[in-house]
Amino acid sequence: MLPLKVDLTHEAESVREYLESQKQKSLLRFLTCGSVDDGKSTLIGRLLSDTRQIYEDQLAALEHDSRKHGTTGDDVDFALLVDGLEAEREQGITIDVAYRFFSTPKRKFIVADTPGHEQYTRNMATGASTADLAIVLVDARQGVVRQTRRHSIIASLLGIRHVLVAVNKIDLVGFNEEVFKKIAADYAEFAKELNFRSVVPIPISARFGDNVTSLSGRLAWYSGPSLIEHLETVAVDDAAREAPFRFPVQYVNRPNLDFRGYAGTIASGSIAKGDQVIVAKSGKSARVKRLVSFDGDLEAATSGQAVTIVLDSEIEISRGNMLVSAVARPQVADQFAAKIVWFDENAMKPGRSYLLRTETDQVGATITDLKYRLDINSFAQEAAKSLEMNEVGFCNVSTQSPIVFDSFEDNRTTGAFILIDRLTNATVGAGMIVHALRRADNIHWQSLDVGRQARALAKNQRPTVFWFTGLSGSGKSTIANLLEKKLHASGRHTYILDGDNVRHGLNRDLGFTDADRVENIRRVAEVAKLMADAGLIVIVSFISPFRAEREMARALMETVEFVEVFVDTPFEECAKRDTKGLYARALKGELKNFTGVDSPYEAPENPEIHLNTVGNAPEEMVELIETWLRERESAQEQYDEGGGI
Ligand code: ADX
Repeated sequence: MLPLKVDLTHEAESVREYLESQKQKSLLRFLTCGSVDDGKSTLIGRLLSDTRQIYEDQLAALEHDSRKHGTTGDDVDFALLVDGLEAEREQGITIDVAYRFFSTPKRKFIVADTPGHEQYTRNMATGASTADLAIVLVDARQGVVRQTRRHSIIASLLGIRHVLVAVNKIDLVGFNEEVFKKIAADYAEFAKELNFRSVVPIPISARFGDNVTSLSGRLAWYSGPSLIEHLETVAVDDAAREAPFRFPVQYVNRPNLDFRGYAGTIASGSIAKGDQVIVAKSGKSARVKRLVSFDGDLEAATSGQAVTIVLDSEIEISRGNMLVSAVARPQVADQFAAKIVWFDENAMKPGRSYLLRTETDQVGATITDLKYRLDINSFAQEAAKSLEMNEVGFCNVSTQSPIVFDSFEDNRTTGAFILIDRLTNATVGAGMIVHALRRADNIHWQSLDVGRQARALAKNQRPTVFWFTGLSGSGKSTIANLLEKKLHASGRHTYILDGDNVRHGLNRDLGFTDADRVENIRRVAEVAKLMADAGLIVIVSFISPFRAEREMARALMETVEFVEVFVDTPFEECAKRDTKGLYARALKGELKNFTGVDSPYEAPENPEIHLNTVGNAPEEMVELIETWLRERESAQEQYDEGGGI
């Protein structure tokens, strides 16, 4: 919930000018961490009210009418909002974080106000993902405690490089310098390992305002800046601007045949007309012909700007891809190492499948290995089987298909991801990518003593995969079922893998986009292979609309017999039968990506068995398969007699 009330009806030129001047100011995003009792809310309240005072003094000078209506303060909030917050909202992250806005003559600020005990880590991580600085609140009476350490580690993991240690409630320890020095030293010692660029301790009393917006006479021994002074002057990292060009394509803008542009927000780096860019996943390249923005065409654009890029040549780019610098490309891989902060009450379990979302991709992912859990006190690496809520671990992650990324160290935007629970849709973890894994190169096949042949011999049959392909409703399942019945009756060991059924379990996470169908087939091909390896006769009955995937399945089987069976029922016939009512819905546009309607079916060019079902009963089709099998057997016998194996 954003604490906003926007009313621009009383806008006047002077306010416009004022807002314009606000736009030119730099922006600092920060968050406050600490336990509830450390004075977080008091501090934020104090900052808001004290700076509002400064701000209203300025406004008074504008002699602006709308002041009477009391809405101008919110106008500024609005300007700040527009500047910075779309990104999170577009990412669709569930936000329990309230963002507060304020500004001083020198700078404007967004503070992520992260409430809650239980979900604190999650809220904090959400707020921290874009913050430049963290105010770590320490109660002067308590000193550096467990929470201080935990929050600091998370801030560091999430890429925050500047810390302001607010030693609060200094009034309750008699404004004592020694107490402050000890806490500052303790924190500095602990933070040595945390990769912060600046750690600035400041003694404050949020309650009474000492050292918050101005230096306090009661802390005369302190010679540093006030809290707000430090916030106003700390260097804001320009890392995103300097990093290589990264442009996640949010959508393809094609209003008419003459215009095709790729719309999105530049995640990092900059781009100019004429620059060469690469499509991250395919490696194809083109030059930037136009950069279109709301304010018209631009010569160049930089990180944070929303633009539509028009290229000089037609290359295939879909939503979810990324245009990147031609000279500094990101990684494209399906396995990588990452640090993960876990937020959810249900522990993270390696092997379970989550949805992994980055700036560009959303894919199924599993934690294949939890290397270690990080002890937040000693920084020790502990062995662990799972990550509980608020714990941090170093993991290997495997995604369903390759994703585009940089290391988090290099790029806070393209190096980060969140993990989503598939059932509850909750954000359950945040990850920072360390590096891609090349481990597929290092996995060796384990040889086992009981081999495929031994298992097949025990069943007295030749392991075979019958791969049925054809439109939905073409009769695949009916024929497969009859075939299995016959084989079973003659003592064969069989199993049917049926699309509709497998999609209830193993492949329940997949839909009907091209990518999902590819993965659907990849998985079922792997399973069929294992089953054939176990000595079974496997009947696979999937639409499997793409030639490439059917070929992939064939190639995968290696020594197992692979029999492609084309259940050839024309589209019109399937639509007429429409046993599940799906064609009617698809033709009305109620069901998207339906095979034969708005998703392609690539018929086999050279199937082992071609069944024309129109006018033929399923029984006849099965007989054709049996005939084929007999022919194969006799051919094999002749071959064996001729000295074959
Ligand atoms: S495949 O394309 O990925 O090979 P699969 O065989 O697993 O498809 O599943 C197809 C079955 O899912 C169909 O028989 C039908 O019952 C159901 N289905 C639901 N939506 C679609 C769709 N959009 N396209 C095709 N089949 C669909």
